[in-house]
Amino acid sequence: MTASEDPGCVVLFGGRSEIGIALVERLAPGRRIVLAARRPDELTAEVAAITAAGAGEVHTVAFDADDLPGQAKVLDEVISRFGPIDLAILAFGILGSQQRAEVDPEAAVAVLHTDFVAQAALLTLLTAGALHPQSHPVRARRIVVFTSVAGVRVRRANYVYGSAKAGLDGFAAGLTDALHGTATSLLVVRPGFVIGRMTEGMDPAPMASTPDQVADGVVAALARGRAEVWIPAQLQVAFAIARWVPRPIWRRMPR
Ligand SMILES: NC(=O)c1ccc[n+]([C@@H]2O[C@H](COP(=O)([O-])OP(=O)(O)OC[C@H]3O[C@@H](n4cnc5c(N)ncnc54)[C@H](OP(=O)(O)O)[C@@H]3O)[C@@H](O)[C@H]2O)c1
Repeated sequence: MTASEDPGCVVLFGGRSEIGIALVERLAPGRRIVLAARRPDELTAEVAAITAAGAGEVHTVAFDADDLPGQAKVLDEVISRFGPIDLAILAFGILGSQQRAEVDPEAAVAVLHTDFVAQAALLTLLTAGALHPQSHPVRARRIVVFTSVAGVRVRRANYVYGSAKAGLDGFAAGLTDALHGTATSLLVVRPGFVIGRMTEGMDPAPMASTPDQVADGVVAALARGRAEVWIPAQLQVAFAIARWVPRPIWRRMPR
């Protein structure tokens, strides 16, 4: 197979994300899948699930998103070992403790670092070649990034996580426009509350979804070549209205 015939690989950054694994299971049949995660030797269950879903090949690589200089090395390793990146899925993230982040600057910055800074750094590495092909290698054809309705209008109850997602959403929106007309495109996914590992022990918010529902929504949006998707779709209307809710009411909204 020549380099131009290689369909490329699907890389899940945050290789044991519940939403990410549900998504990759749906995309797996016949594909070369790379799970990029911390503790890559502890991905047995994830590799088994992706293999059972019909992947052609499943590989793992070490990836710590917070190590910004290390991100470029991981991309180089992935491309040299597994070929061009057809689809990059950025599914890493932390909720953090809002309570702690309100009094501990390090805790606040840790959330912002993983959920905004590290995401922006990786998006830049993945897209620099599409924007400036003369000076940078092209690294990915399609990219999925997860923001959240938490960033659409930030709530008092989770303003640290919410502000990171707001920053990421704005970065991704501008990047989507910058990529217009290039060979690379971005899909911005805005889920609401997802019942799963990240929200364990919390009461589901209205219009909550499951990782499987989010994965189904992303697959459909990818198939239609969309630039953004709200999951569920009704959240787009709900948050259009939420922008107009008076502040004294909004500040009492739960997370
Ligand atoms: N769950 C929700 O309610 C919800 C709603 C809206 C948006 N989202 C977003 O959707 C995405 C996926 O979330 P999820 O529900 O699948 O969460 P999840 O199951 O908790 O997965 C998040 C993954 O991120 C990884 N991660 C965290 N920091 C990392 C780092 N520095 N380097 C590498 N990996 C790191 C974690 O890896 P370890 O296993 O090594 O800890 C974990 O596997 C996230 O961006 C999240 O913010 C989630």
